[in-house]
Amino acid sequence: MSSMNRLLKSALALSLTAAVAYPVAAQDIESQILQKFQQGAYSKKGADSCLMCHQKDAKVMALFDGVHGNLENSNSPMAKLQCETCHGPQGKHKGKNEPMVTFGANGNVSAELQDSVCLSCHQDAERMAWHDSLHSDDASCVGCHDIHTGSDPVLNRASEVAVCTDCHQQQQQDLYKRSHHPLTTQAGEGSMVCSDCHNPHGSLSDASLTEVSVNDTCYQCHADKRGPVLWEHQPVVDDCRSCHNVHGSVNDAMLTRKAPMLCQSCHANDGHASRAYGDDDSAFTGGDSCLNCHSQIHGSNHPSGQLLQR
Ligand code: HEC
Ligand code: HEC
Ligand code: HEC
Ligand code: HEC
Ligand code: HEC
Ligand code: HEC
Ligand code: HEC
Ligand code: HEC
Ligand code: HEC
Ligand code: HEC
Repeated sequence: MSSMNRLLKSALALSLTAAVAYPVAAQDIESQILQKFQQGAYSKKGADSCLMCHQKDAKVMALFDGVHGNLENSNSPMAKLQCETCHGPQGKHKGKNEPMVTFGANGNVSAELQDSVCLSCHQDAERMAWHDSLHSDDASCVGCHDIHTGSDPVLNRASEVAVCTDCHQQQQQDLYKRSHHPLTTQAGEGSMVCSDCHNPHGSLSDASLTEVSVNDTCYQCHADKRGPVLWEHQPVVDDCRSCHNVHGSVNDAMLTRKAPMLCQSCHANDGHASRAYGDDDSAFTGGDSCLNCHSQIHGSNHPSGQLLQR
């Protein structure tokens, strides 16, 4: 089956679902466009017929700086129906008289239909879990990707985080807290990106993590925290988030709270029952508090480290 037939088929299948969710005016445009797909009146001259009118738009022309405008790649839209591979058949379009598919949050067709255009070429292992990702419901491919450009900002590690935090304000705020992963573009930082931990195209894990669990995601880089150790600290094995806020925290080491409060949230009866935690400046409250003695908080390999003290 040609990719165009596949596209048409998925577009038609989607029209059934799209019709339910969309307001009447938008629905009219979408059904008009679906009808154009069905009629399949593609222009004879491909891009040339579009560029007669659109070549003054620098944004349009920037397509040819990127892979989708590459005339040499036999899989590129340019080797197929060119502009119309994505924007649909021209039909009688000469301006406002008849719509073409437009993309993005203000696009004139549903996100599902927009994405089906992209997936007609990009439905591969990398995007296997796309439909499990909240981005397939609440954003779209074009929510992150720019097409008419030679360098798509989300594909560049120096600008990816800015694209993500444009929508994810909470994570952006976390990045400016006292301790955080080196994700920002502040001087000396920026060596990591959100997609080191998250698969932007979805995964089978919660929050689209790159690995099967939170801890496995952390072990990719913090291999020293992976067991087995002789003396485990149970919450470390269970979930790093018992003590750490992964996107950033006002406390050192991205801790959810400071010791001793952090420790006492689980160790109500911490074995030092006679201690009063007031304003005394003892080893219990001063410096690293509980960690003054129980310094091997992630577990110990010392023969007598059962209390995580060495
Ligand atoms: C005779 C001139 C003409 C030709 C030929 C033409 N267009 Fe257009 N097109 C326009 C004009 C004018 C507009 C702007 C209409 C408006 O302001 O809403 C437009 C709008 C568009 C838009 C929507 C832009 C937006 O952001 O709203 C797309 C997409 C588009 N054209 C794609 C194409 C493609 C693809 C082709 C070739 C198959 C093509 N056009 C051929 C004149 C033309
Ligand atoms: C791979 C899919 C794809 C191809 C091929 C493609 N476009 Fe686009 N086009 C898009 C997307 C997506 C957008 C929305 C803006 C963006 O993401 O860059 C867009 C935006 C536009 C716009 C609105 C631009 C603006 O100024 O806001 C026009 C007009 C347009 N395309 C025309 C064309 C023409 C003409 C061609 C062929 C030379 C073409 N497109 C080829 C996907 C495509
Ligand atoms: C006709 C097939 C086709 C369609 C439709 C298509 N692409 Fe592509 N896309 C390609 C090809 C070919 C490449 C180059 C990949 C390669 O050669 O390995 C590519 C590459 C990409 C890349 C990587 C770019 C880079 O610079 O490395 C992104 C991101 C992408 N496409 C997103 C999209 C999105 C989003 C859409 C829908 C708006 C879309 N594509 C529609 C064929 C297509
Ligand atoms: C949440 C933002 C986001 C969304 C939504 C998104 N992408 Fe991506 N995409 C990225 C990032 C970041 C990369 C580079 C890192 C990576 O590959 O994991 C990328 C890489 C790519 C690439 C090149 C490498 C590869 O995976 O083959 C293609 C092609 C691509 N995306 C297509 C798509 C398509 C098609 C959609 C919609 C079905 C989509 N993307 C939706 C962020 C996104
Ligand atoms: C166009 C806006 C937009 C952009 C850009 C965007 N997101 Fe999202 N993202 C959303 C929305 C909307 C949701 C669903 C509601 C929510 O959790 O806020 C979401 C959900 C998520 C989730 C949790 C849900 C899941 O299981 O998939 C993660 C993780 C995420 N985004 C990461 C990223 C990353 C990483 C990037 C950049 C590569 C990114 N987002 C770019 C809008 C966006
Ligand atoms: C060090 C790994 C890591 C990095 C880097 C990271 N995240 Fe996360 N993220 C996680 C983990 C683990 C979760 C799931 C647990 C949670 O909610 O704390 C998560 C959850 C999320 C969620 C879902 C939140 C919710 O409340 O359900 C969003 C959205 C998100 N991350 C966005 C981002 C964005 C945007 C970036 C880049 C600025 C980013 N993350 C960087 C590990 C990471
Ligand atoms: C892609 C690699 C990578 C992944 C994945 C990763 N980290 Fe990190 N982590 C780093 C880097 C780099 C630093 C900064 C190290 C430095 O500054 O010396 C860091 C620092 C930390 C710190 C110390 C922060 C401070 O301010 O002292 C904690 C705590 C941490 N990570 C926890 C986690 C947790 C929990 C996860 C899993 C959700 C995780 N990391 C996943 C790379 C990663
Ligand atoms: C019981 C609470 C707790 C749990 C659970 C926990 N940590 Fe920590 N973590 C701490 C404390 C307290 C510190 C700061 C004291 C220190 O440096 O040892 C810290 C510091 C760190 C640091 C920076 C200093 C260093 O040792 O490299 C990293 C990285 C880190 N943790 C990663 C992780 C990872 C990955 C996990 C999950 C496998 C995890 N933590 C689980 C309490 C915890
Ligand atoms: C999320 C809950 C949680 C947090 C937070 C936590 N612990 Fe634990 N801790 C445990 C559990 C569960 C065990 C295993 C207890 C057992 O086996 O009886 C344990 C065991 C220990 C042990 C070994 C004692 C024994 O009986 O084996 C020490 C010492 C310890 N924790 C100290 C700390 C310190 C210091 C902190 C703060 C930095 C801390 N813990 C934070 C849950 C927690
Ligand atoms: C001055 C060193 C020191 C400090 C500070 C300290 N501990 Fe201990 N902790 C010990 C020693 C020694 C033991 C074993 C002897 C005992 O039971 O008193 C122990 C035992 C424990 C045990 C195991 C108790 C049991 O019943 O097996 C836990 C849990 C514990 N400490 C948690 C904490 C917490 C939480 C803090 C901070 C509020 C803390 N410790 C501060 C030295 C310390």
